[in-house]
Amino acid sequence: MSGTDGRGRLLLFPDPAALARAAADDFARRAAGAVAARGRFTVALSGGTTPRRLYELLASETYRVRIPWDMTHLFWGDERHVPPDDPQSNYGMVREAMLSKVPIPEPNVHRIEAELPDASEAAARYDGEVRRFFGLAQGQFPSFDLMYLGLGPEGHTASLFPGTTALVVEDRLVVATWVAKLDADRITMTYPVFRDARAVVFLVEGAAKTQILAAVRNAATAADYPAGRIQPHDGELLWFADRAAAGTGSPA
Ligand code: 6PG
Repeated sequence: MSGTDGRGRLLLFPDPAALARAAADDFARRAAGAVAARGRFTVALSGGTTPRRLYELLASETYRVRIPWDMTHLFWGDERHVPPDDPQSNYGMVREAMLSKVPIPEPNVHRIEAELPDASEAAARYDGEVRRFFGLAQGQFPSFDLMYLGLGPEGHTASLFPGTTALVVEDRLVVATWVAKLDADRITMTYPVFRDARAVVFLVEGAAKTQILAAVRNAATAADYPAGRIQPHDGELLWFADRAAAGTGSPA
């Protein structure tokens, strides 16, 4: 079952393995299209636990050979303020699940330098790296071919958490943000970047997300949550959800 409304297209899958296969096929299709059109494929990866299965699948024999890794550029939509070897590191998770197993050139991996003592410095450096890569002047924003997002239980996405200063930033690509509930700094891309993406894909799994998924996809309540305020101008907005997260018995 799927549905298209003002809140994008919902694609339902019977289980996380089926969702990961569909997302990997989508990734491969988008990679081929981007390389054919622009000679490169630019992706902003999500952190957390949900996307790990997808990253591992992309590194598997079946998919690894289908991806033009030499023309694929990987970025991170957000990062915890920890070194890359910290178990909390989103980069570290991707390195273990995928980067260590695929022939992607090191310069194509654009990680956030979250080991820097000052999170604002890490954010400013990453803002600059994204601007340089896309050749952006001040006031311009990148159009990533694909941006993955997850959905937190209280409606955060990337590191755009309720009640934080990052939610109102419109003039920078990347900011540091203090998240009181985590008692930690985070580094995150901002709404303008997600708005200009060619495609934003949420990956949502598990019964714990049922209520928040319904709330952020309901036009009447979406704006109450950071994830509900992700709305690409012209790009696609897709929600890949498993049956448990959608709270229905009807898979795709
Ligand atoms: C992070 C992510 C965050 C995540 C959600 C969902 O750095 O943790 O960017 O936004 O996507 O918290 O996390 P799970 O996939 O672990 O449920």
